[in-house]
Amino acid sequence: MRILILGGTRFLGRATARLAVEQGHEVTCVARGVSGVVPAGARLVAADRDDPRALVPLAAEGFDAVIDVTRQVSHARHALTALADHVGHWSFVSTVSVYADHTTPGQSAADAPVLAPAPPDVDGPIGPDHRWYGECKVSIEQLVRERMGADRSFVCRAGLIVGAEDPSDRFPYWVRRLSAGGEVLAPGRPTDRVQFIDVADLARWLLHAAATRLAGTYDGSGPALTRAELLAGVAAGLGVADPVLTWVDQEFLLSHDVREWSGERSLPLWVRLPEAGGLMDRDVRAALDAGLTVRPLPDTVRATVSWMSANPAAVRQGGLDPADEAAILGEWQAVRDR
Ligand SMILES: NC(=O)c1ccc[n+]([C@@H]2O[C@H](COP(=O)([O-])OP(=O)(O)OC[C@H]3O[C@@H](n4cnc5c(N)ncnc54)[C@H](OP(=O)(O)O)[C@@H]3O)[C@@H](O)[C@H]2O)c1
Repeated sequence: MRILILGGTRFLGRATARLAVEQGHEVTCVARGVSGVVPAGARLVAADRDDPRALVPLAAEGFDAVIDVTRQVSHARHALTALADHVGHWSFVSTVSVYADHTTPGQSAADAPVLAPAPPDVDGPIGPDHRWYGECKVSIEQLVRERMGADRSFVCRAGLIVGAEDPSDRFPYWVRRLSAGGEVLAPGRPTDRVQFIDVADLARWLLHAAATRLAGTYDGSGPALTRAELLAGVAAGLGVADPVLTWVDQEFLLSHDVREWSGERSLPLWVRLPEAGGLMDRDVRAALDAGLTVRPLPDTVRATVSWMSANPAAVRQGGLDPADEAAILGEWQAVRDR
């Protein structure tokens, strides 16, 4: 296939471009070249999508498939205006942040309600909390379906993406923490649900979707597993036998200013329950039926470790620091022993 990736200089876009080259496709990426470089064998067309006409010269080339990762509504609009009539199939990487209800577990893409589209004066996520992120993705989903038609558009609502070149501090925290050994603070209950997708599996599915002209809207995530399974899988990938896990109650963590999800003083991938019980517990059977395959967790861990070891400076440090973790574990022990 002749594939056009709008992105391709970092994480998912780059992984998709790399795999597409490996599969023998002719790969063109469009980016400014600010975030990184495209993989060997892919062509970079350097362009700034803030310019409404930046993609117009590519129309004459014609592509079998486009894969777009944008968060900016205007970038999607410009791309569709320039290219929709010159490509066979359009995949848009959206997000599970489009959903309106993050509380109810077991929802599926087929019928879960989504947010309203972004207001006309909002073009992309704003500020450190990425306000309007989900709404902008909803707007772009609509544009893609309108311009490409239902039978030529694939909307992939990605869940948490993990694996090699992960620019976040989320999954890498657990890899780092379990490899450090000692008593590990495990948040919440062993049965709490966690859900994510390996970047390489998502890349493979995007290319499968393009090749088979998959149409429709799907969640792009692996099946949920328990937090105990997550930590066991990370340990297995690291070759750590019998990690020492101390499960600490959610309310205790919250009362000690331990934060959710990511960032400073957080326990990454941990979210408050039941409020966020639907965020990482979605029903993804439709995606699995439509060709998404999911590798064993230890393989994801090994890919992450090998990237972290080769690129230490690129790994974002975040999460609970060891001294804070030890202090909280000490206090928890004291409460339990009382
Ligand atoms: N990470 C997660 O856990 C997660 C979860 C759910 C959904 N998602 C979605 O998954 C996608 C991930 O995409 P990604 O990993 O490839 O990273 P990304 O950060 O979305 O990459 C953005 C790409 O667009 C390019 N770009 C940005 N501004 C541009 C401009 N003005 N003109 C031209 N190109 C521009 C960037 O390259 P340059 O900077 O070099 O121009 C880069 O290649 C995103 O859509 C995200 O919303 C992610």
